[in-house]
Amino acid sequence: MKDISIPEEVKRLLKSRLIIHESLPSTNEYCKKDLVRDGQIVLAQKQTSGHGRMGRSFVSKEGGIYVSFCFEPRIGAKKLIPVTGMCAVAVRRAIKRCCDVSPEIKWTNDILLCGKKICGILAETTFEGGRPKKLIIGIGINLNQSKESFEGELSETASSISALTCKNTDPELMSAVLMEEIDRAYKALCEGGNAILPYIEEYRVHCSTLGKEIHILHPSLAPEGTDPRKAFAEDPSIFPSATAVDIDESFGLIVRYADGKRETLFSGEISIR
Ligand code: BTN
Repeated sequence: MKDISIPEEVKRLLKSRLIIHESLPSTNEYCKKDLVRDGQIVLAQKQTSGHGRMGRSFVSKEGGIYVSFCFEPRIGAKKLIPVTGMCAVAVRRAIKRCCDVSPEIKWTNDILLCGKKICGILAETTFEGGRPKKLIIGIGINLNQSKESFEGELSETASSISALTCKNTDPELMSAVLMEEIDRAYKALCEGGNAILPYIEEYRVHCSTLGKEIHILHPSLAPEGTDPRKAFAEDPSIFPSATAVDIDESFGLIVRYADGKRETLFSGEISIR
């Protein structure tokens, strides 16, 4: 276990903001309740209906950290656009500080170690009267699960930090450092402008997608009712391919097609060849 001690004031701050549950359906859903307010952090030791992007489920067994940060932003929806990319950088920093490893970021917001997904991030916004009411940043880190808890197909794509490094990490340390990094990223997000630039720079450095040949898994190109990932496994040729060349100032992925045309992708799924 990495030997970093948590300062007492950080421990106190974490305790004052944390709502801990042994088990929840989903910490993101729990944050949507009225009782969870600005600055609070909801943490569960396991989730029974953890979910990720595009309505996918996120396997959330004991040993991982499942946490959602709730903020009530006083900024417009447009200024929230970079949040996911900034959080990917913040979470990467937290993992590096606590576990002494250097993970990669797969666009848009998967954190990978040794090519396996060790963390997923789902940022959601709720609205009231056309304005953002809550910004919910949900983070699932595969921290101390055994290798065996990743079963079947999942074992090919995901793992835990402990299974990959043979070292366990103190979940309290991870939560405290995550709180520091997410608070820092949120402050920069609210400030906007130049405060975001270091996050974009760091994202570019650690984004393993750049320079690679990718397939763009547009859901509209998959047969109706079929998960684009499944459709891709059956017939990759239905999805266009391109080279990932850069990250823009909103964390969009700039791609170049074989005919030289460029496009910026803002969301959706890609597969790296
Ligand atoms: C993804 O991989 O697409 C994102 C996964 C996000 C999972 C986290 S775990 C805590 C929070 N609660 C959820 O239901 N989802 C997020």
